Amino acid sequence: MNAELFFGGAPEASASAPGRVNLLGEHTDYNDGYMLPVATPQCTQVALSRSNDGHFHFYSTTLDSHVTFAHDGSAPAGFGSYIEGCIRLVQARGVEVPPLRVFCQTNLAVGSGLSSSAALEVATLRALRNLLGFDFDDVVLAQIAQRAEIEFAHVHCGIMDQMASSLADPDTMLFIDARTLEHRLVPLPAGTSLIVIDTGVARKLAGSKYNERRSECQEAARLLGVKALRDVTDLDAVEALPEPMRRRARHVVSDDLRVLEAIEGIDGVRFGELMNQCHFSLRDDYEVSIPELDVLAQALRDQEGVLGARMTGAGFGGACVALCRTEFADQAATAALAVYEQQSQDGIKGRILIPVPSEEKGNHEYH
Ligand code: GLA
Repeated sequence: MNAELFFGGAPEASASAPGRVNLLGEHTDYNDGYMLPVATPQCTQVALSRSNDGHFHFYSTTLDSHVTFAHDGSAPAGFGSYIEGCIRLVQARGVEVPPLRVFCQTNLAVGSGLSSSAALEVATLRALRNLLGFDFDDVVLAQIAQRAEIEFAHVHCGIMDQMASSLADPDTMLFIDARTLEHRLVPLPAGTSLIVIDTGVARKLAGSKYNERRSECQEAARLLGVKALRDVTDLDAVEALPEPMRRRARHVVSDDLRVLEAIEGIDGVRFGELMNQCHFSLRDDYEVSIPELDVLAQALRDQEGVLGARMTGAGFGGACVALCRTEFADQAATAALAVYEQQSQDGIKGRILIPVPSEEKGNHEYH
């Protein structure tokens, strides 16, 4: 179904929002720490109009799925929960929201760890803001989007993905302090571009392991007598923690330091080293990598022009990101993908997401 059929004409309002690729500061947001994502060029679009039958109707072209429920009912689990969560939380802030018809589509690879859920939430909230004229700013939008994910999709995430979707650009990093929500744009090192390749491995175990890591970090903070791992100043005390808290805390504390170094305006070579260190720390200390992410990150590092590479996002599948000298980005991406597919078992197929393949370029408008 297309939007015109769904609305019986043009929608009353629309908006879009990107996903995110995190460059440094992974699993630091729920430890009140620092991170450095960029927005994806791919985005999710949401269009909406008032419904005239007293029901909510949500349609996703990407999933070819239609859900309907009464104004005082609730959406079944699935993409509708993210949209409903945004609507209910806007209502909870005193905004009157009528029953709506909501149409969404995305060219973000769902399941590749680039946070298509945050993109859906932020695009929904932007479209609601356009329709209803409320004046929540982009940080408040990110906070509502995070609540929607936690309370309605039951994913106990931090704030990074929603902050990035709401405030980041595709070509500039967004420094975020998860405790204060201070944020600012920071340029990529001169002469560099990003490569992002999906491993093609769906994120198994991601949910349960994510919650386990969160609790381990809380336990580490408790043992260290700090509010959150962001407050750790005594690295010897971290080394004295029992396992696995010692290694979990060591990752978080070291990744916070990497972000703080990276925003000082370091060159691409040093930035690439920090990305490699981040990967090894996620692999060995935080234990959220899988062999496919390790193989792909190494295949990227082996290419001419690549300065550093790492898994990005929560882990257990998803994508790798590399920093590359701009003139080598296209050829390095193609060569790394070929090496990865050759070395992977079971005929796994990866996919280059950035640089956006030329045949997909027309579909990637960013509003
Ligand atoms: C997921 C969560 C984020 C963040 C990352 C790991 O993407 O949604 O809040 O914790 O994992 O850095």
